[in-house]
Amino acid sequence: MSLRTILIHPDPRLKKVAEPIARITPEIETLAADMLATMYDAPGIGLAAPQIGVGARIFVMDATRDPEAERAPIVMVNPQITWTSEALNTYDEGCLSIPDQYADVTRPAELRMEWLGLDGKTHEQEFDGLWATCAQHELDHLDGILFIDHLSAIKRQMITRKMVKLKREQARG
Ligand code: NI
Repeated sequence: MSLRTILIHPDPRLKKVAEPIARITPEIETLAADMLATMYDAPGIGLAAPQIGVGARIFVMDATRDPEAERAPIVMVNPQITWTSEALNTYDEGCLSIPDQYADVTRPAELRMEWLGLDGKTHEQEFDGLWATCAQHELDHLDGILFIDHLSAIKRQMITRKMVKLKREQARG
């Protein structure tokens, strides 16, 4: 298990539509373990493969925010939304690829998802609250969509300029 480097926006690898995963292999299991370790280390509540430069349809999440609670990691391969509620929820979202920037995004409050688990079986489950927001945010990553793509062009450009500046500073060391 190793920590992977999280890409910072803007990066063309964050804008690509990720490819479906044909089957669960030891490589996919290692990828999932690395992604979970990287997410918990960050720390964050979700991480999608494109964020570490892997163009495959897999993300990990754990929206259990109580540090006293036991970890509840979920790994979703080839996830799909099979139902969304009409009720919406607005959440102040952030992203490990857009550090320290937060903005309100409105999405369906509840949804049902279907995905392939690391056990090779199809899973289906309903999510609400932060879990629902997180699942939709991560699924967006697999389609090259960032939470700032849900904002106005002005807000998006403002955040992107800050990230360009951050990356320039990081490159200088
Ligand atoms: Ni994100």
